Amino acid sequence: MSLPPIPKAELHLHIEGTLEPELAFALAARNGVELPYASQDELRAAYSFADLQSFLDLYYALMAVLRTEDDFADLADAYLARAQAQGVRHAEIFFDSQAHTARGVEIGTVIEGLTRALDAAPSKYGISTRLIMCFLRDESAESALATFEAARPHLHRIAAVGLDSAEVGNPPSKFREVYALAREAGLKCVAHAGEEGPPAYVWEALDVLGVDRIDHGVRAMEDDALVARLAVDQVPLTLCPLSNVRLRVIDRLADHPLRSMLDAGLLVTVNSDDPAYFGGYADDNFAAVRDALGLDAETLRILARNSFRAAFLDDETRELYL
Ligand code: ADE
Ligand code: ZN
Repeated sequence: MSLPPIPKAELHLHIEGTLEPELAFALAARNGVELPYASQDELRAAYSFADLQSFLDLYYALMAVLRTEDDFADLADAYLARAQAQGVRHAEIFFDSQAHTARGVEIGTVIEGLTRALDAAPSKYGISTRLIMCFLRDESAESALATFEAARPHLHRIAAVGLDSAEVGNPPSKFREVYALAREAGLKCVAHAGEEGPPAYVWEALDVLGVDRIDHGVRAMEDDALVARLAVDQVPLTLCPLSNVRLRVIDRLADHPLRSMLDAGLLVTVNSDDPAYFGGYADDNFAAVRDALGLDAETLRILARNSFRAAFLDDETRELYL
């Protein structure tokens, strides 16, 4: 009999990236949306990506099926059920507001739908949650500012802001102003940096945006001074190993820098990013790096412990998990 999955926090998870083909087709039928795929198998066959952009093109296209509060609640509930089975006890969940408002779905519909499922999660699944609103970095700084203003009536539902989508050519410094507003409003700050983009983007996320965590950050390993900075400040990095392989950030899982990052004293965590597209949820990512990198039980415990250390929990709750 296999052991139960190790208790962990999931800190890098795009809720839209949990849209499984089965639910996509069910929502398409419910909303009268026609998908350009004849079957779930045909859709799955399209999950072969050359890079981040080729994934994003499909990821945004499939969001067409998400229209109502119920859709967002069903999407989040389906994720939470899977997360529970993977040992997730706390989940900090990204959503891409602009990808929905651009299609005529109101921000309130997105946030109310998601929070309905998230509010039920402690009793239904034994999972606590936080919501993180991401800005699309390939949209303008003005669009991010407008998004933040539109979210103001809902800020009590939002723990942090993040930055995602096409990285190269869209440095963190482009979003200096909106991050300053978010921090003024008492929100935590995270940003994708060093996934496809250079170490300079990780520096900017730290020094210009003042982030509390870096999402991905694998390319930070190219810059010794940056590694030293991340180690001294114990800045958490939310790694997503299966994502890195599927989006060709690395060639093979055996080449993943996770172990050298741990050896360098970095506070790294293991997460699933867009699990419906990348072939694995939280514990699947743990198992994959265990097998590919030969991690022992103590190292897996350190990774799980790091996930709670890096979570946006109050100290009292954090202690319960550590
Ligand atoms: N949006 C969803 N997944 C993403 C990723 N891995 N990188 C950047 N933006 C994303
Ligand atoms: Zn991501």
